Amino acid sequence: MQLLDGKQTSEQIKQEIAQEVTRIREAGGKVPHLAAVLVGSDGASETYVNNKVKSCERVGFESTLVRFDADVSQQTLLDKIAELNADDSIDGYIVQLPLPDHIDENTVTLAIDPDKDVDGFHPTNIGRLCLGMPTFIPATPNGIMELLRRHDIETEGKHCVVVGRSNIVGTPMSLLMSRNSNPGNATVTLVHSRTRDMEAICRSADILVVAIGKAEFLGADMVREGAVVIDVGITRLPDESKKSGFRLAGDVDFAAVSEKCSWITPVPGGVGPMTIASLLQNTLKARQFRQG
Ligand code: GUN
Repeated sequence: MQLLDGKQTSEQIKQEIAQEVTRIREAGGKVPHLAAVLVGSDGASETYVNNKVKSCERVGFESTLVRFDADVSQQTLLDKIAELNADDSIDGYIVQLPLPDHIDENTVTLAIDPDKDVDGFHPTNIGRLCLGMPTFIPATPNGIMELLRRHDIETEGKHCVVVGRSNIVGTPMSLLMSRNSNPGNATVTLVHSRTRDMEAICRSADILVVAIGKAEFLGADMVREGAVVIDVGITRLPDESKKSGFRLAGDVDFAAVSEKCSWITPVPGGVGPMTIASLLQNTLKARQFRQG
């Protein structure tokens, strides 16, 4: 088994981005500026957003963190979005999900200017992705594609099973893997909670992408010898032996599955850092797009 090392690969991408930022700055241009909107104080969301902002600083981007209490009204949030859309100094922004129950995520996503939607969640951008047009590809699936590309993992003609049909990961991942591109050109099966005989389908996969948010869901009995396994899950499990009181677990039983597969992403240090690197790539693209 070999590790698909997202930490190392993302560092390489960040270095490339930092070089481009230096070039922009030396040419007297405006450096990319990412804003992140965080509603409430969910521990995991807070960690993700802080990592995104910190990574901006590391590559030389400008960043702005906009925080609201969990009880903020939907209208106040929409007003802030209108402000970010109109603010010429902001190249791209994200609204961290999930949002509190009283806020409609679709309404919020629709309010984001598609040209600043560096998460690639707006229907216009998802539509462009479906049609194979240039767009912002959602950061997690894009990061996975980049990880496969940079490790020369063959995908053409392979059977790729995507576990989970979320808007953020499973659905765009299945589109990307079936596209006529490299990586891509795979035969894709998207399995979900209503799929019959999921175990047998997973066992027939050359490439497995697991994104259902259930800790250690995928066991060795669901993996074919030599498969490539991408673990998107990251769940906090209570662990009193840790100072934080929790440990991080993926959707894959790493200890068991790593004995059987050819490549696997660790958790942490696999898909997570690649998501952030992709967001930075999208923000750079947004800047380049806005300056024409
Ligand atoms: N919540 C979990 N993943 C993501 C992501 O990629 N973007 C946003 N905005 N929220 C998320």
